Amino acid sequence: MANRMWGGRFSSGPDELMEEINASIDFDKRFYRQDIEASKAHCQMLAARGIIPQADAEQILAGLDEIAREIEAGDFTFSRALEDIHMNVEARLAELIGDAAGRLHTARSRNDQVATDFRLYVRDAIDHITGQIEALMRALAEKAREHHAVVMPGFTHLQVAQPVTFGHHLLAYVEMFHRDAGRFEDARKRVNESPLGAAALAGTGFPIDREMTARALGFSAPMRNSIDAVSARDFVLETLAAAAICATHLSRFAEELVIWSSAQFDFIRLSDRFTTGSSIMPQKRNPDAAELIRAKAGRVIGALVALMVVMKGLPLAYSKDMQEDKEPAFDALDTLSLALEVMRGMVTDMEPNREAMRAAAATGFSTATDLADWLVRELNMPFRQAHHVTGRLVALAEEKDVDLPDLSLEEMQAAEPRITADVFSVLGVENSVASRKSFGGTAPENVKSMAEWWLQRLGAERT
Ligand code: ARG
Repeated sequence: MANRMWGGRFSSGPDELMEEINASIDFDKRFYRQDIEASKAHCQMLAARGIIPQADAEQILAGLDEIAREIEAGDFTFSRALEDIHMNVEARLAELIGDAAGRLHTARSRNDQVATDFRLYVRDAIDHITGQIEALMRALAEKAREHHAVVMPGFTHLQVAQPVTFGHHLLAYVEMFHRDAGRFEDARKRVNESPLGAAALAGTGFPIDREMTARALGFSAPMRNSIDAVSARDFVLETLAAAAICATHLSRFAEELVIWSSAQFDFIRLSDRFTTGSSIMPQKRNPDAAELIRAKAGRVIGALVALMVVMKGLPLAYSKDMQEDKEPAFDALDTLSLALEVMRGMVTDMEPNREAMRAAAATGFSTATDLADWLVRELNMPFRQAHHVTGRLVALAEEKDVDLPDLSLEEMQAAEPRITADVFSVLGVENSVASRKSFGGTAPENVKSMAEWWLQRLGAERT
């Protein structure tokens, strides 16, 4: 049987395989709500402009509401023969209200319809994800406030570098996630423009009102160029780029959780809620959730790359290739949303092991920079020379297999006679972190007020 919607010049239906490659209903039924909202806005505009009779518009609107109810109740039969959500809805409308249904598609095309629906869907997804990012930031800021003075080693090259506080390390992620939320919010502005009324690609001869439909759907404005309106998918690309960057941040954090929760580090304890045991090794407590978040970043990045590759060779305007925008986007946005939720749960439950963190912070001559700074400050030594003297003392400590604070004053003075006992005040890790009061530095008092600043900004309860 030829297609009911466009079968006029076809004498037979498509091959079964054609239906399989062509139909998008299995995934685009996801945005039935957006499709119906956009159709209602279009219908109201057509009636307001006198393009279709008011009585038909009323039937169409009631029919669309009925279809939404059917879909929500699980009473709707989706048909692959009808390809996609747009034609499934329209065909059901014809069953429900008869001939008037045929007027809905006046002055529009599936090309502007799908672009409109997908923009509405992506806009909703952005709003949801932005809220989740903020919830994660709040959980991190709360942990940071609680542990603003817990000393841990700061690393470069995964080698102990300088002592920092656990709170400071957590707030680094708050900054990253804040930028991620900003990227989503920025993308949202460009997502939120209306393609509706661009029709197939050239606009329409009917006296439509694109401002009216844009407003009804909460878009900021109608898109200025009808060809662009149906061709553009950069709104998905940049949303996926924001998602890929955010997933990358989650993955780096997940990697740290894996390292920190290992027996060798033992910096944190993850809760039972987000770890698993081993079926053979009873002692195991595996950070599976963190590992999966790390892995899922691959999927999200993959979605961005997949869609870039789909789009890069396409001439304007619409090509069916663009139907391939949906599955990767749905998958990436779902995946990111799940990863954000799980990460928030892990952060909320996670407990630092202060003793292990502090002990590790005191290894690796982590206060060598503090010693060099002391020489500069107290003896007015040029920093390069101070670096050299400190290097000699580190070598000595290494030779004796002790830490810097374990060297005697005499040993220190052998390297630089003007050194006094006061130097020991900067060699402890607590003094080291406490001294780093420069803006953005790791001093506990800085960290505490920064955590509080974030919590206030994020509208969280202060305890
Ligand atoms: N299902 C199609 C998609 O997702 C809708 C647009 C179809 N347009 C067309 N000219 N065949 O892209």
